[in-house]
Amino acid sequence: MKMDNDIANKIRSKVDIVDIIGERIPLTARGKNFFGVCPFHEDTHPSMSVSREKQIYTCFSCHATGNVFTFLMNYEHMDYKEVLKYLGDRVGISTSGISVTRKTSKYDSWYAAYDFSLKYFQNNLNSNIGKQAREYLSKRKIDEEVIKEFGIGLSLESRDDLTKLLTSKKYDLISLNRMGLSNDNYDIYRNRIMFPLYDTFGKVVGFSGRIYDNSDQNKYLNTKETEIFKKGENLYHYHIAKEECRKEKSVIIMEGFMDVIRASTIGIRNTVALMGTALTKEQIALIKRLSNHIILCLDGDDPGQHATLSIGDTLLAQGIEAKVVALPNPEDPDSYILKNGKERFENLVDSAIPFSDFKIQKLKEKVDFHSDEEKAEYINRVLQETVKIEDTIRRELILKRLANEFDIGYNTLEMRMNSLLTEKKDIPKTETVNLPKKEEKKDKYKKAFEQIIYFMLNNDWMITQVEKEQLVFPTEVMRATCNEIIYYYKKYGTINIADFYTYVQEKENIVEFLNSILASSYLETTNKDELFLYFKVAREYNQKEEIKRLTNLMKKEMDPIEQAIIVEKIRKLRLGDSEK
Ligand code: CTP
Ligand code: MN
Repeated sequence: MKMDNDIANKIRSKVDIVDIIGERIPLTARGKNFFGVCPFHEDTHPSMSVSREKQIYTCFSCHATGNVFTFLMNYEHMDYKEVLKYLGDRVGISTSGISVTRKTSKYDSWYAAYDFSLKYFQNNLNSNIGKQAREYLSKRKIDEEVIKEFGIGLSLESRDDLTKLLTSKKYDLISLNRMGLSNDNYDIYRNRIMFPLYDTFGKVVGFSGRIYDNSDQNKYLNTKETEIFKKGENLYHYHIAKEECRKEKSVIIMEGFMDVIRASTIGIRNTVALMGTALTKEQIALIKRLSNHIILCLDGDDPGQHATLSIGDTLLAQGIEAKVVALPNPEDPDSYILKNGKERFENLVDSAIPFSDFKIQKLKEKVDFHSDEEKAEYINRVLQETVKIEDTIRRELILKRLANEFDIGYNTLEMRMNSLLTEKKDIPKTETVNLPKKEEKKDKYKKAFEQIIYFMLNNDWMITQVEKEQLVFPTEVMRATCNEIIYYYKKYGTINIADFYTYVQEKENIVEFLNSILASSYLETTNKDELFLYFKVAREYNQKEEIKRLTNLMKKEMDPIEQAIIVEKIRKLRLGDSEK
């Protein structure tokens, strides 16, 4: 672990956090620091600061904080090892042979159960018993390679095959029920083609099973929502799309996983699927991390078009105008690609239109153009959509088209649009603006101790001082942090925040605590006088606590002599107090 930490620190010292973040988010220099819009919460204000000097970033709004490693882990959804490799390659430091202690999770046994089930389903499909299912897949033009790539398998008709296997592997029924693999002592999935569902890191966290004979059951059966499978926080194919979207500089959103699988067979992999749910806030945040260039490619039927309008509107309200691929009704990407092939689908994607144009087209479909009233209503609706478009040239083009189409004066339309534009400006924004949170009123003791810990991370002198004074920190997490700082300092002979972050990354409580103090704005004041003042406050607190403790002790003490001794101790402490 020490060797690995050394390599990590070496890599970290060779990259500049400002470059790494700056490549992903526009940063502007202000004073010593750089500022940008924080990608870890919904915001339009530059509340994230990046320090070249300290090599850390801090968001004053959501308190996301860390070094270059944590940034990449969170932003790119890479794990620690991937980040080390990525940055190591960049600065020419070999990371081969590095062994990273993987974070053990209390759900490790769950992941193992899903992995075991995955292999079990895959075996079934490959065995004799899977003949009919294989025929179904082959009829749907899903070949061997795709079956393998997407981990497709088969659950059996028998009622408790998998449950029996898993219980023989020491899984108890209660757990299996919680995992969504069993219902009581029966298998949940019976006689279905099984598609594994992955979390954003690529771990199997559930399944979707499709019927393949003519049974009249639900077409798809999905793993229920579990502790590690939160449907609204997941998207099908996300773990693959992470890489692909970076390469392609766009993300394509589809409805079903069959669409994603089909697109993959023609080499289009910058895709994610919604899996039959409405798009959630969390999913939008995930998508925005893949790319700002979002392409909606939902089904061509009415529900699909309806969903396109709704998702497009949601994105527009967040300042992103998606593009829309219009599939003919009732095709979905899967059926369209099967019927028309790779090239025509690619052309369709290339000719995706801006969402506002799509919406205007849709509005038009319902209008009875013999009625002046409906025409006027339509024109007004179009103008309402037009004011949402930022690009003035596109606005003008739309007005010109309207003017021509309905033989209305361009000026009339422009006047109307301008008045809508002023109205829009006057409406207070409904989204809450995330301004830096007002520094909560912290009591002076807490502040003093936090300040001391912060300075321990910045200079060795402070660490020595804390040890010398034998300062006792008031909370568990502060004591733990202090101990780790001292330990780290003794081991490495020096300390800085950025490397200390790497060192404590597995200790969630410490990381959380560091994040909270680093997001405070009072930290930067430094001169020795002030530091001594903080020490004085901290000492005073220690004394007070000691007096409290002794007073309690005294109250419980029965022996009058012992009591007197304690009283004397308290008196001395108080005296010491007043001397200062
Ligand atoms: N879905 C579901 N349960 C259903 C129907 C659909 O969970 N009864 C989800 C599935 O995740 C599916 C997505 O919604 O991938 C889209 O549904 P649909 O368009 O009906 O799926 P297709 O991809 O067309 O599936 P298939 O081609 O196998 O019929
Ligand atoms: Mn579909």
